[in-house]
Amino acid sequence: MSGFSPNWLALREQADHRSRAPHLAFKIAAKLAGFVNVRIVDLGCGTGSNLRALAPILSNDQYWHLVDYSEDLLAHARILLREWADYAETTSEGMTLYFDEKIIHVRFSNVDLKDGISGLLTPRSDLVTSSAFFDLISADWIQTMAADTARQNILFHTVLSYDGRIQWFPTHNLDQAVQDAFNQDQQSDKGFGPASGPDSTSILVEAFEKQGYLCETADTPWIIHRNDEPELLDALGTGIGEVVTAKLPLAALQEWTSALEQRRSVLIGHRDLYACPPDKL
Ligand SMILES: C[S@@+](CC[C@H](N)C(=O)[O-])C[C@H]1O[C@@H](n2cnc3c(N)ncnc32)[C@H](O)[C@@H]1O
Repeated sequence: MSGFSPNWLALREQADHRSRAPHLAFKIAAKLAGFVNVRIVDLGCGTGSNLRALAPILSNDQYWHLVDYSEDLLAHARILLREWADYAETTSEGMTLYFDEKIIHVRFSNVDLKDGISGLLTPRSDLVTSSAFFDLISADWIQTMAADTARQNILFHTVLSYDGRIQWFPTHNLDQAVQDAFNQDQQSDKGFGPASGPDSTSILVEAFEKQGYLCETADTPWIIHRNDEPELLDALGTGIGEVVTAKLPLAALQEWTSALEQRRSVLIGHRDLYACPPDKL
């Protein structure tokens, strides 16, 4: 669970994909179904996981703009998307992927999003989307992003925003203290001002409702079992322990960490959000 390394994103991708709320994704697909082509901006795209999950259910001709501030992750996105597609071509803008019946044009931008998204939206943008990104973001940034998105009546869909819940089985008497310390860290500045952390989905809903959008959220937790995904379960335990190191007494943390191998499963709470502008209801 180290930062946003390609290895960490690869380790979690399967859990990410199975946890997403299909009914919200299908609402997006239904809204975009009549378009000849669709133009999508993916914020904090990492290695392209959101495209791999969503593109297969969208209409056939798609234009994705993948945005991240990590050149390394964008380089991995190019490689992984090429491997994922049935066939891929390099273009002057990025690449074109052929996947089933879909033709997916992909453009990559190495951009620090701290200054907002207005420069990324064109008059033809149809969807702003992201995966595992909005808990990093401040409430002020969310307000501005929602206003920019609403100015052009663009659909919005984000998945897997952490909601503050960490439930281990079997439990340990320090779980609550560790969760509290972890959630405190989730609200520290991640480059956008104080992060919304576990409150990000409610802040997003409030911001989009203020713009007249219809919002629908879904509970999309990761549920990780040691029998199925031991490496991911251990990485989560170790990663959470590292995040809270400075916040708990060393002896307590060592006691909590040494119980990791007895853990059979963990639930990490997430939420997805679909937000539809008034003119597309
Ligand atoms: C948890 S990862 C999610 C990556 C990807 N969306 C996924 O679901 O696998 C968060 C992503 O946000 C990107 N990110 C964080 N801060 C950013 C910023 N200021 N500007 C652009 N991207 C940023 C990171 O580089 C990383 O790729």
